[in-house]
Amino acid sequence: MKRLIIHHIRQLVTVSGPNRLRRGAEMGDLKIIENGFLVVEAGKIIALGSNRDYLAFVNTEQCELINGEDFIVLPGFIDSHTHLVHYGSRENDLERQAKGESYLDILKSGGGIHQTVSQTQNASFSQLYEKAKASLKTMLAFGVTTVEAKSGYGLDFASEKKQLEVGKALNKELGPLVVNTFMGAHAFPKTCEHRDTYLSNLLKWMEVFRKEELAEFVDVFCEEGVFSLAETKLILERAQALGYGLKMHADEMVSLGGTSLAVSLNCHSVDHLLVTKDEDIDLLATSTTVATILPLTSFYLNKPMARARFMIDKGCGIAIATDYNPGTSPSENLQLAMQMAFLKGKLTPEEIITAVTINAAVSLGLEKRKGSFEVGKDADLVFLKIPNLAYLLYHFGINHVHSVYIGGQKLIERET
Ligand code: NIG
Ligand code: FE
Repeated sequence: MKRLIIHHIRQLVTVSGPNRLRRGAEMGDLKIIENGFLVVEAGKIIALGSNRDYLAFVNTEQCELINGEDFIVLPGFIDSHTHLVHYGSRENDLERQAKGESYLDILKSGGGIHQTVSQTQNASFSQLYEKAKASLKTMLAFGVTTVEAKSGYGLDFASEKKQLEVGKALNKELGPLVVNTFMGAHAFPKTCEHRDTYLSNLLKWMEVFRKEELAEFVDVFCEEGVFSLAETKLILERAQALGYGLKMHADEMVSLGGTSLAVSLNCHSVDHLLVTKDEDIDLLATSTTVATILPLTSFYLNKPMARARFMIDKGCGIAIATDYNPGTSPSENLQLAMQMAFLKGKLTPEEIITAVTINAAVSLGLEKRKGSFEVGKDADLVFLKIPNLAYLLYHFGINHVHSVYIGGQKLIERET
């Protein structure tokens, strides 16, 4: 592979700094080089800095030179919370919601997640694969170079495994890195008569999936009528003992105490947080757990967004993700989630970029490889054709990506 040199970059947003969660005011302290350069070799960043120094890296035969004067270049965006692999769609939920049923009413009556579960169980590997691949391509076109993908629409051993195997197989094709999370604790299966039977199944499956290296994280939907706080604790403690990283869906509809449990278990992230109490925000602010907000989900459910502005002001470290799933966020558009965090959540452009780069990388344990431009890190790059960073968030609902590189290879180039 030739050495790639991007020179005269109008703004090189490096996000450089410590490879750890950026919290509170640190989230707004975004490192940007005006008129910068970046050098990539063998898929990694080998140099970056002010444009005046780039010529030293030009070794004539072996170089590809790109003029970056029209672009803002950033680390590839990381979508750290998705339910990428599933089958079917749920526009029918909307009709029920219009007639007054809530999300949890529909779930309780055997619809909602259960509808997607039966469609996912009945889908073949290749049907699931093709659908997920199409979504992954859409995400890539929006500038996303790493995607977390949860299981949890199988709820039996074979179907959960099938979902995780689709995630792994997608990694073999050139494209965004897919990080698998086992989320068998997404709902109790309709056919399950004893909660304890399903809980002990989950513990067994976790052990198998760990041995087979099918998942890096375990996540639980800690919610009223779904998994209780005690059940969540049981599952996550076992997962931790098996060596998984931990995640939790908490405080989406009802606050059960999930956030303080997530902090005490040192979860990589706790996600949703629509109804998180002040005292739990104080706890999060003193922790290394990433507070992941999902603005498209609150928009879709017509609920107030998580109090991200307040959380950052209190000292928390935030990530922003799509929660792409068929029931509460049928959209792969991470830029739209970022735009909502700006327009509705009053986060600054700098905080929002931190939230989808280094903080999202931390939430997936990838902070040493991804999420900022540092020598030795992966060359995942997004070129945006915009006049300034705020414009990305102001001109909403469209795609501002010009091109996307993963590991130094160009995968997307759009007419902009
Ligand atoms: O993250 N909250 C739980 N899981 C998904 C929704 C799943 C569904 O409704 O299919 C979420 O919002
Ligand atoms: Fe989710």
